[in-house]
Amino acid sequence: MASKLPQIGTNIFTKMSQLASKTGAINLSQGFPNFKVDPLLSKILVEKATEEVHQYTPMSGSPELLSQISTLVEDSYNRKIDYTEEILVTAGATQAIFTTILALIEKGDEVIILDPSYDCYEPAVILAGGTPVRIQLDENFLPDWNKINSSISEKTKMLITNNPHNPSGRVWKSNDIDDLEKIMLDHEHLILLSDEVYEFITFEEKHISIHTREKLYNRTIITSSFGKTFHITGWKMGYLVTPKHLMEEIKKVHQFNVFSVNSVAQATLAEYMKQKDVSKLGAFYQKKRDFFRASMSNSRFELLPCEGTYFQTAKYDSISRENDEAFCRRLAIEFGVATIPISVFNNSGFDQNVIRFCFAKTDETLLKATEKLCKI
Ligand SMILES: Cc1ncc(COP(=O)(O)O)c(C=O)c1O
Repeated sequence: MASKLPQIGTNIFTKMSQLASKTGAINLSQGFPNFKVDPLLSKILVEKATEEVHQYTPMSGSPELLSQISTLVEDSYNRKIDYTEEILVTAGATQAIFTTILALIEKGDEVIILDPSYDCYEPAVILAGGTPVRIQLDENFLPDWNKINSSISEKTKMLITNNPHNPSGRVWKSNDIDDLEKIMLDHEHLILLSDEVYEFITFEEKHISIHTREKLYNRTIITSSFGKTFHITGWKMGYLVTPKHLMEEIKKVHQFNVFSVNSVAQATLAEYMKQKDVSKLGAFYQKKRDFFRASMSNSRFELLPCEGTYFQTAKYDSISRENDEAFCRRLAIEFGVATIPISVFNNSGFDQNVIRFCFAKTDETLLKATEKLCKI
């Protein structure tokens, strides 16, 4: 049988995590926290599990959770959303992205993806019958808007952006958001899928969300992830925000993809969100970033700017000239630390000899890992 996704094999996160467990290497590869969840969240989960919250919720999500999400968006960005029509609770941002692309992209449509890109965008475009157009970010992992602008044609239906950016940890400044807005306004047929799953994890500067750009509301889908915001990646809970006319199409797919998502998780999150202040999340991870960077100060790695997310990238040219995949494999096997090579996020395989560390780990894990890394 011909494969619908012939290019796709086991993804790099699975490969590196498997290598970490086989070799006993400290796993700084896949992006997930290894510290305990907030005891308040566990307590609410236990309480909710004994309540009558075990049947299907309405398709968009439980009204309590939808209302909490709209409060969060309003508090964070001063945007008022009609939560009965403009929010969809999803099984993680992954499902939000997949469902959106499947609903809105047709055969012949081109979708611009900025590389290095998170790996779930392209397969969804291909399965929808669209054509991915992968455009490389510049050498500092920032967008070259002229290049992006010149790759837009009549066929371009969607632009996918990811800010704060995985894997680079870069965060766009207002001039980038202005340029993006201009491009969108110049190309009226274009839809923006703005992946903002790390929206609350920025450091020196606050994240500028598309929620703050009113002129784009009508053509934008914004995705977020409770996995990132509340340290619960395994729950696979997220949401999207979009205007009614796009939501109607997205829900047609959502209805037959999942219909509705985990009811106990929804009830728990709705209650937790009433009590939790997400504005402290940036400071929480900034401490981890600073601890990681300080512990790496005697290493031969060159740490690159890290403005948001829980990823730190580093160049290793003063250690080795190997390609980044080979270097990461050797780092795990010989030096006991699993990491992620950046070139796998590039369509062209472009290799800048940069690797990614995840610092969403306990100080103890970070200390053990950096001790090893400093000996290289
Ligand atoms: C940029 C980006 N988008 C989307 C996702 C998917 O989020 P979720 O785990 O909520 O599906 C991730 C997860 O790592 C991500 O890094």
